[in-house]
Amino acid sequence: MSLLVDNIGELVTNDPSYGDDPLGILRDAAVVIEERRVAWLGPGAEAPAADDRVDAAGAAVLPGFVDSHSHVVFAGDRAAEFAARMAGEPYTGGGILTTVAATRAASDAELRATAGRLRAEALRQGTTTLEVKSGYGLTIADETRSLRIAFEVTPESTFLGAHLVPPEYADRPDDYVELVCGPMLTAAEPYARWVDVFCERGAFDADQSEAVLRAGMALGLAPRVHANQLGPGAGVQLAVALGAASADHCTHLSDQDIAALAGSDTVATLLPGVEFSTRSPYPDARRLLDAGATVALASDCNPGSSYTSSMPLCIALAVREMGMTAGEALWSATAGGARALRRDDVGTVRLGSRADLVLLDAPSYLHLAYRPGVPLVRQVIHNGVLM
Ligand code: NIG
Ligand code: FE
Repeated sequence: MSLLVDNIGELVTNDPSYGDDPLGILRDAAVVIEERRVAWLGPGAEAPAADDRVDAAGAAVLPGFVDSHSHVVFAGDRAAEFAARMAGEPYTGGGILTTVAATRAASDAELRATAGRLRAEALRQGTTTLEVKSGYGLTIADETRSLRIAFEVTPESTFLGAHLVPPEYADRPDDYVELVCGPMLTAAEPYARWVDVFCERGAFDADQSEAVLRAGMALGLAPRVHANQLGPGAGVQLAVALGAASADHCTHLSDQDIAALAGSDTVATLLPGVEFSTRSPYPDARRLLDAGATVALASDCNPGSSYTSSMPLCIALAVREMGMTAGEALWSATAGGARALRRDDVGTVRLGSRADLVLLDAPSYLHLAYRPGVPLVRQVIHNGVLM
């Protein structure tokens, strides 16, 4: 079965060979999908026939969003914590343990239902690739089942057993790091592609973080790091030194951190939903971009610091608050996310790429930032299938 999407007013390909803009925009275009892949793209007037047809009605069509950072395997609710923050309480990350307690008490079915619901919610808003982390279990059994459930909803599953030291290890954190590096990683590894660590004051220091990442790498997992979120720290430098695919948050960066990112293949993944939901200063995307770093945007969807699955919201915030142009923000939410996941089959629309397309109810991608909060995603094609 082949599918023709035609009458596309503005097709964002992220293929720079279509002009000098990284977004590679084609006007009056069409795309043909076969076997879940992009089989043809070009001027609408030259489009070949296909078995089925979707009429984009002159609107914009984009690559599906690649959300490279989420924590959707959890139980419980922290709306009261959010309300307290909006009334002036600071965000410390300590609320993670509230979610850990609720997650440990939940059944597999409850965790699976929440992860599935949020995956579906993200897909309706155009997210066709989603990374999902464990990290609210913090025991061998609870991390392993969290990861198993993450792996059911995405191949981009990430072990985050080193999210925080759980209360039962509060007075012997190094024993917890040993547990993570040993039996916990061994048990969880079959369900994980990535290993992550929360490298931050109050979570794991540079040595502990490095030990966790190296233990995961020894089992074949590729590293990524929660870095420099709540204050300056060693996370970004560690991520770059280990060749991590991404350093995530990057809110508090020194000039050296910026230079290290710019001189590496480590993507700076910015998570504006966090600053929105914690009333913290936004990261300076402009500084990273001007230095030559690769920037991704992701939702960080989680019950504490950013309970949104909306990539359009992240784009709007990045444009309004972080110094990004609308084009840079869209690139970062698609091709940038793909770089952060080291994927070359998603985040772009070109021959052979996975057929993940977002059809907007708008003439241009600019409307994602121009019309914040409006559900502009009209239709989603995921893996060649019209959702
Ligand atoms: O990415 N930074 C650490 N982890 C999450 C916060 C999770 C939570 O507050 O529950 C984050 O922001
Ligand atoms: Fe996170």
